[in-house]
Amino acid sequence: MTAQLSKKSEAWSARFSEPVSDLVKRYTASVFFDKRMADADIQGSLAHAEMLAHQGIISAQDYADIQRGMAQIQSEIAAGRFEWLLDLEDVHLNIEKRLTELVGDAGKRLHTGRSRNDQVATDIRLYMRSAIDDIAGLLRELRLALLDLAETHADTILPGFTHMQVAQPITFGHHMLAYVEMFTRDAERMADCRKRVNRLPLGAAALAGTTFPIDRERVARTLGFEEVARNSLDAVSDRDFAIEFCAAAALVMTHVSRMSEELVIWMSPRVGFIDIADRFCTGSSIMPQKKNPDVPELARGKTGRVNGHLVSLLTLMKGQPLAYNKDNQEDKEPLFDTVDTVVDTLRIFADMARGITVKPEAMRAAALQGYATATDLADYLVKKGLPFRDAHEAVAHAVRACEQRGCDLADLTLQEMQAFSPLIDADVFQVLTLEGSVAARNHIGGTAPEQVRAAIAFHRSRLG
Ligand code: ARG
Repeated sequence: MTAQLSKKSEAWSARFSEPVSDLVKRYTASVFFDKRMADADIQGSLAHAEMLAHQGIISAQDYADIQRGMAQIQSEIAAGRFEWLLDLEDVHLNIEKRLTELVGDAGKRLHTGRSRNDQVATDIRLYMRSAIDDIAGLLRELRLALLDLAETHADTILPGFTHMQVAQPITFGHHMLAYVEMFTRDAERMADCRKRVNRLPLGAAALAGTTFPIDRERVARTLGFEEVARNSLDAVSDRDFAIEFCAAAALVMTHVSRMSEELVIWMSPRVGFIDIADRFCTGSSIMPQKKNPDVPELARGKTGRVNGHLVSLLTLMKGQPLAYNKDNQEDKEPLFDTVDTVVDTLRIFADMARGITVKPEAMRAAALQGYATATDLADYLVKKGLPFRDAHEAVAHAVRACEQRGCDLADLTLQEMQAFSPLIDADVFQVLTLEGSVAARNHIGGTAPEQVRAAIAFHRSRLG
């Protein structure tokens, strides 16, 4: 048996007659991914030790020793000098073992009245809470960048599409605000998820609670948890909060992905609505003319892995009996990768949103094609007294005639238009302009520049 194996076997040494094989050791260990929770693990242990001392379960001297040892461990980890051992399985046993090396018996007393089951559940929640706070900050940055873009282009007109066919003129500011709405809902979802993340499992011990006179509320206060998990079995086995987080994250990525799809289309030379700053694009190794929108494409692609993580976690949980099972160790990699993917993506997008150059002439030219103001003409006829269905029919005839002649509605003379409806007058031309079309949609949620500016002000005041 190696020295390292004997170190691990101390955790449950007496019960076992032979060490696990190297393969099993690697298979069951989590230290190489859960060490990223070291900070949370130390915070949780310190709060637990403080409570144990306050309750007279360990001595004040033990607590002081534990504090001293943990401070040293923190600095070793920060300096990259901490030796993580596979033999010690996970972040919890690695830190506890080192603590005992540094401070002796006080280190061995730390685990009184707790289990790794409630410890790990606490660590993940602490880790998730700070990840959610980071993501909330990044969602805010992204929205501020999109609001600036919306403001600059509150009057810029482009065609709005349904079925990818030109539908009606809209303002670019309005289009950006659609994404601001999505990312606002994402922020709301993250804040809601945080409430259920922020509950303390510690004190549940292995599954049934502990025989020691612990004060869970004290630990909750120390760690900033809003509530104490009320059932010990649920406390050690619940991973709903991780699933909720991944679901919220999958929606963040879905929104980023939809936006990416549009950026890619808009940047295609065939469309040419925007350009994206060079630092977010790459060239081709063979085609010298290429400038590819790699960042949006990759973000669209990475949405798949986050969706996958959500399904992984749901599947991980669906067959587990109460309470803790080792399966739960598999929650971390999907969760961590979700955090990394969302954090990196949002950070890049907040920056990239400020690196988008809008090409108003190309947008305008596209809006002038495809009879984008046909609905405006129909609405005009309705206002002159024609029932909407008849107006729709009259305009359809006009569009068909224009198609045959290869011109736009506004290119017809008044006389030509009157052939489709005698109700048409000289005032029709104002209705057929792009500016007239967008300005007329002047109600809450409409595309009129005035409404776009009001919506920007609304979001800015809420973002503070
Ligand atoms: N590494 C474990 C995990 O991530 C810690 C809890 C271990 N508990 C146990 N009973 N084996 O879930």
